[in-house]
Amino acid sequence: MQIGAFWFNLLYIEMAPIFGPTHTNRKSFSMSSSSPYSSEQFVNDEADNEISRLEDQARVRWPQEVVVLRNAGLQAGNSIADIGCGPGIITEFLAKEVEESGLVLGIENNEKLCNLAKTRNASYNQVQIINNDACGLTDVKDNSFDFAYTRFVLQHLPDPNKLLTEAIRILKPGGKLIVMDVDDSLFHITPYHEGMTQFLFEASKGQNKYGGDRYIGHKIPCMMFDAGFTEIHASVYTFTSKNITPNQFLDITTKFKLELLDPALKDWGENMLNEVYRKSQEGAFFGSAGVYCVVGEKAL
Ligand SMILES: C[S@@+](CC[C@H](N)C(=O)[O-])C[C@H]1O[C@@H](n2cnc3c(N)ncnc32)[C@H](O)[C@@H]1O
Repeated sequence: MQIGAFWFNLLYIEMAPIFGPTHTNRKSFSMSSSSPYSSEQFVNDEADNEISRLEDQARVRWPQEVVVLRNAGLQAGNSIADIGCGPGIITEFLAKEVEESGLVLGIENNEKLCNLAKTRNASYNQVQIINNDACGLTDVKDNSFDFAYTRFVLQHLPDPNKLLTEAIRILKPGGKLIVMDVDDSLFHITPYHEGMTQFLFEASKGQNKYGGDRYIGHKIPCMMFDAGFTEIHASVYTFTSKNITPNQFLDITTKFKLELLDPALKDWGENMLNEVYRKSQEGAFFGSAGVYCVVGEKAL
């Protein structure tokens, strides 16, 4: 494989310390050794907090993402599969991009989220939502989409290659897959807190337990190559605390990871995070998280 075929385009961080308001007390959702998005986990009110987090994250990140999608060629009239669409927030943004002449197929295996996505997008004729496992898209025909987008999904899968294989199958020749996902090795806060590195490591171990990978970002280009994609271009985008408060940054990127910790480490994690939130109010704070975006094409 020729690594030279990938374009790594690192966008540098603009420094902007922010002094924020008081700490919001949003709870995270419950988790066990099964995936956080498995149906049994998404049955109570705490799931609403995760949905709010996804909303905040989507709203903050979308201006950057839509540029990537448009540069890849997405326009009115196109068809796009939103793989692992969750509550359909991004699905709605995509519906506006492809307009009524296009098609957005939201694919989600969690029934509750699938229903939320249907309700949210009920007024868009161009949107269809299906309750299907993205690793076995039995209801979706070969060669049928111009684009596929999968956002913060691969990190949750025990075998992400299965999703990539399905994505390339359902794309038309010349169609493009855009993958957006995390890599916690790119996470930093200033002032530095020595507990944060350990916290990220422990949270990652928690996600590994059900087969997930919080360091998947840098592995995606090679995975896409192995799945048969060509013209692979990878970029790293920084999501920072610029223009949002320290609390918002920490809520979106970090607080939910408490639930990934081993129960024996919960108190330690909570105390450490409370200290980080508190310190972020006391002076200058800057946080940055890296998100990998990889675009690949199905050969003609
Ligand atoms: C972090 S959420 C991201 C949701 C949405 N893509 C977004 O960015 O707002 C991950 C989503 O992937 C879904 N998911 C995980 N594994 C899946 C699978 N095998 N098939 C379909 N959806 C899956 C989860 O249920 C969840 O809705």
